[in-house]
Amino acid sequence: MRKVSFSPPDITEKEIQAVTDVLRSGWITTGPVTQRFEEELARFLGVSRVVCMNSATAGMEMVLRLWGIGPGDEVITTPLTFAATLNVILHVGAKPVLVDIEPGTYHIHPSLVAKAITKRTKAILAVDYGGWSADYERLLELASASRGYFRPKRNTPQEWLGRILVMADAAHSLGATYKGKRVGAVADVSVFSFHAVKNLTTAEGGCVTWSDKLQAYDERIEKGLRLLMLHGQNKTAREKYEGGGWYYAIELPGYKCNLTDIASAIGLSQLGRYESMLARRKAYTQRYNQAFANHPLVKIPFHPPWEGEPSYHLYPLRVPPGWRDPLLKHLALAGIQANVHFIPLYSHPAYRSLGYTAKDFPVTQAFYEGEISLPLSSSHTPEDIETVIDVLTTIVSQGI
Ligand SMILES: Cc1ncc(COP(=O)(O)O)c(C=O)c1O
Repeated sequence: MRKVSFSPPDITEKEIQAVTDVLRSGWITTGPVTQRFEEELARFLGVSRVVCMNSATAGMEMVLRLWGIGPGDEVITTPLTFAATLNVILHVGAKPVLVDIEPGTYHIHPSLVAKAITKRTKAILAVDYGGWSADYERLLELASASRGYFRPKRNTPQEWLGRILVMADAAHSLGATYKGKRVGAVADVSVFSFHAVKNLTTAEGGCVTWSDKLQAYDERIEKGLRLLMLHGQNKTAREKYEGGGWYYAIELPGYKCNLTDIASAIGLSQLGRYESMLARRKAYTQRYNQAFANHPLVKIPFHPPWEGEPSYHLYPLRVPPGWRDPLLKHLALAGIQANVHFIPLYSHPAYRSLGYTAKDFPVTQAFYEGEISLPLSSSHTPEDIETVIDVLTTIVSQGI
């Protein structure tokens, strides 16, 4: 039996050599390799600056903190996401406001966002589910409409923007495009993940970037994030290490979430061949689409109606009601590791106190009940994909 795992990391000798080089170099934490990784990411995304951190979770939390968002503020987001998106809102003490997704898409519904906006709303945190960009133009229009009544907290980036912040949880969407631009250059701020199962990995890692609307504040945003992510120290470890640089000041009681050069070495190697990794994901997605497009029972992923290309992070197949669990079980017995994205946030015990139930989110709930994510990685072979198609069509044709 050929086993197919869900999303094995795509690691070649290049990554192994790059990590070995860093290990031998005498400098293993944040330093020159991370700096190069940030510069290359900025070039790839078409943005002026990128700040790497040790996860997307940390990236989103540092942005909320830099923006001065906290108790008394509200952040609107989606229930169709991983816990990280919600946890960061809770960590800073703000109130998460969940709204349902838009039918035919995987994304927060702009009309429901409009209804959920109050004078306390400080951010909209959209999620690029599966690598499909959210509809940022509509979300940015809603944010712009808040200019008249938005009351920014003083001495924070809220003042510079003068309106609600639109942040992309772009954990899945590195390399995706939206209306001719790469995700990263569209929302006010975007945060990517380099976790082990993501398209491009550093084992654990992530980065923050922002659009050119904030270009005048590049220096201040970058400095603010770098202070927050390293204990509020006004010098990096490297600057302290270099000749006579021992003195430093702690400017604020910050956090600790920097990315190491060991991790960045993996990321840099991956970025060097990322276009070909994306092309492979696209080819596998097209093969799945071809196999299932005319199937009488299962449905291929929908493509949101706005212009853009995804990063092909997930392949969310839609299956008839009641089929999800038995299908996952049969696939597992046949050696195929499929998955579900996501268990909606309102179902988790940790968030019961927010007071939401499945009835509040009919579109998310229906999607959740009929979704399975098929194996998809640039390290799969075409034979892996054919195995998944054969096994799945056989199971489905025999009936659940
Ligand atoms: C939608 C989404 N947001 C955020 C995260 C968190 O990413 P990280 O593990 O890099 O913190 C994940 C990770 O799985 C995710 O799927």
